[in-house]
Amino acid sequence: MGDGELGRYALALSEIEIQRYRFMAHAAREGEAHWWQLAGITDGANVLDLGCGPGLVALEMARVVGASGRVVGVDREADAVATARALLDEAGLSHTEVHCAEAWNTGLEAGSFDVVCLRHVLAHNTTDEVTRILEHVRELLRPGGCCYIAESDLTANRIDPPIADITDLTERYIAYLRSVGRNPAAGPEMGSTLLRAGFELAGRHAEYVMPPPGRGVRPPSWAAREAMVAAGIASADDVERWDRALTDDLPNAVSLFVVNHLVIGRAPEP
Ligand SMILES: C[S@@+](CC[C@H](N)C(=O)[O-])C[C@H]1O[C@@H](n2cnc3c(N)ncnc32)[C@H](O)[C@@H]1O
Repeated sequence: MGDGELGRYALALSEIEIQRYRFMAHAAREGEAHWWQLAGITDGANVLDLGCGPGLVALEMARVVGASGRVVGVDREADAVATARALLDEAGLSHTEVHCAEAWNTGLEAGSFDVVCLRHVLAHNTTDEVTRILEHVRELLRPGGCCYIAESDLTANRIDPPIADITDLTERYIAYLRSVGRNPAAGPEMGSTLLRAGFELAGRHAEYVMPPPGRGVRPPSWAAREAMVAAGIASADDVERWDRALTDDLPNAVSLFVVNHLVIGRAPEP
């Protein structure tokens, strides 16, 4: 993964990673039920999951909108698209489709969606790309439709008991993201970002969530290790140290805390 390739994860996911995505998607459906309802992710809705990854959130939303609705997933990574298609087919959700495209140029029909979701996608794009993506989202939404953003703030991550090597990995990742023009603290800025893009704010919420540490599962910061070494932000010794901490210490850590920011923007009606 080179500079500018952030967000282009290796999505050849192991079963344990899929389980973790599934757990997080289920937790989102349960914990965000009020916000999904407010945004219009309800029976019969047409929903676009932009940057859908392996499609587990799309799967939960497809169950919520039911067969009279439709859920479309889009991701630029072919292996994410293939995984999402396979998981949605396996679940028998025939009112879903998945396409491979850039989030700013999906080729989908203008004005055809009630809701467009962007979950943990915008932080992997530059400021200019975020502007282009939100312009496109406005085109895709019907008037009065909603853009639903879930985004984190890596600078607020906490772990208890503290593990110095994991904190170091997170801090280097934050430095790396900044060096390639990404915003690791995007979550709290999403309201003003939506307002600048011409949306009206319809809802806003933030809370800490506690993802399960999960034996064998590694964070996105680990996926960026080679890029961090290439950028001179880490050495091979650092990578070995992080590897040991992720193998020996993280699975035994009791609590991880990650901030989840939810922001809902409504496309203006004429
Ligand atoms: C952290 S994953 C989140 C996946 C999913 N939204 C979820 O919450 O489970 C981010 C996904 O967004 C995709 N992505 C990031 N920027 C994108 C863009 N500009 N166009 C299309 N997909 C993008 C990545 O390929 C990746 O699959």
